[in-house]
Order: sequence, then structure tokens, then C-alpha cells
Amino acid sequence: MKNIVILISGRGSNMEAVVRAAQAERWPARIAAVISNRADASGLVFAAEHGIPTAIVANKDYASRAEFDAALQTVIDGFAPDLVVLAGFMRILTEQFVAHYAGRMLNIHPSLLPLFPGLATHAQALAAGVAEHGATVHFVTAELDHGPMVAQAAVPVLPDDTVETLSARVLQQEHVIYPRAIRWFVEGRLTIAQGAVHVDHTK
Ligand code: GRF
Repeated sequence: MKNIVILISGRGSNMEAVVRAAQAERWPARIAAVISNRADASGLVFAAEHGIPTAIVANKDYASRAEFDAALQTVIDGFAPDLVVLAGFMRILTEQFVAHYAGRMLNIHPSLLPLFPGLATHAQALAAGVAEHGATVHFVTAELDHGPMVAQAAVPVLPDDTVETLSARVLQQEHVIYPRAIRWFVEGRLTIAQGAVHVDHTK
């Protein structure tokens, strides 16, 4: 059994998709904890209702990024994670923290990386006039929204799209590719070489 710790900051719909897939598909893994940096993250309610241990490490209680990340790391490591999953965790992480979880921390970003790193990706996509937009699951490295990519999903951008309609279309795909990528990790299918991910589809 592998231990997965999920970090959220808000509604946690990706976390929900992962929890549901892990249960329905009987992954050889347990969601060991859901941890939020905000006490008001609504995803904590879903986690608690599903019997998953929750914890809050509030960044506002710490004077510096380094102190917050150190406290967060201590709480995460208390759950002995094999994998840390960032699911709408709205924090920039210190290099030390990222190095500690090298090769065992995944993120989902709502764009077809390397396009549109950072915030407001859907507005960026609409402003750029791209024909397709999407989402990317990647291993976390020190550079924000970079790191070896595990899975991507593309959706069309339609003529009358708004940030709301486009983000909803992308989010549907996030809920497909994030559980799938995490399952691959849990099943030991992912290797990283020269900055690229190889997925073993023979298992
Ligand atoms: C998602 O769009 C994810 O890609 C981004 O933040 C959003 C989180 O949504 N990193 P949710 O909290 O998983 O519903």
C-alpha cells in the first residue's frame, strides 16, 4: 500500500476525483491525509466525510516562506508519503521543500505547458487566441509550473468562450488525467530520465 498525501487550498475538486478513483478502482494506495494551508478550504469537508485524516498548516501563522514550508513538511512526513499530490495548492514552494520531495510530488496545471505557466491561465489562453487549451500533470521541480510532464489533455477553445466556460471544460479533463497519472505512479509505471517521463504501458 502506497501512501498519498494531497495538498489543497480551496474547493478540492481534483482531490475529490483522486479519492473517488482510488476507491472505485481499488488502487494499491491509501489517501493518507488531505492537508490545506487555509482553514476555510471547502475540500476539507469532503475529505473528512470520507474518513480521510485532515490537517491545516496555515501559511498566515508563519513569518517566512521557509518556516511555513518546514512546518508543512513535518506534517506531511508524519503521514509517511510515497507521493505528495498538489491539487489546487496555491503556494510557491521553497527549493528545499521541492528537493525533499523530488520525484515524488505531482502537480496539475490548467494549461498545455510549457504554454501559460503562472496564474489566470484561461484568460491567458483566450487573450492569445489559441485554438486548443488544456491541462498538464507534471512532477514538481524548483521552477514554477515546469518539471517532467506525465500527462496532458487538450480541449477546443470555442468562439464564444469565457474564462468560466473554458475553465469548466478544462477542469473536466483534469478530473480524468490527474487520477490516471497518479494511478500510474502508484503502480510504479513512471520513470524520469533526462527530464522526461517514461510511462510503462506493459504492466
Ligand atoms: C485546478 O484548475 C488546478 O489545475 C489548479 O487549480 C485548480 C484547483 O481546482 N492548479 P480544485 O481545487 O482541484 O477544484
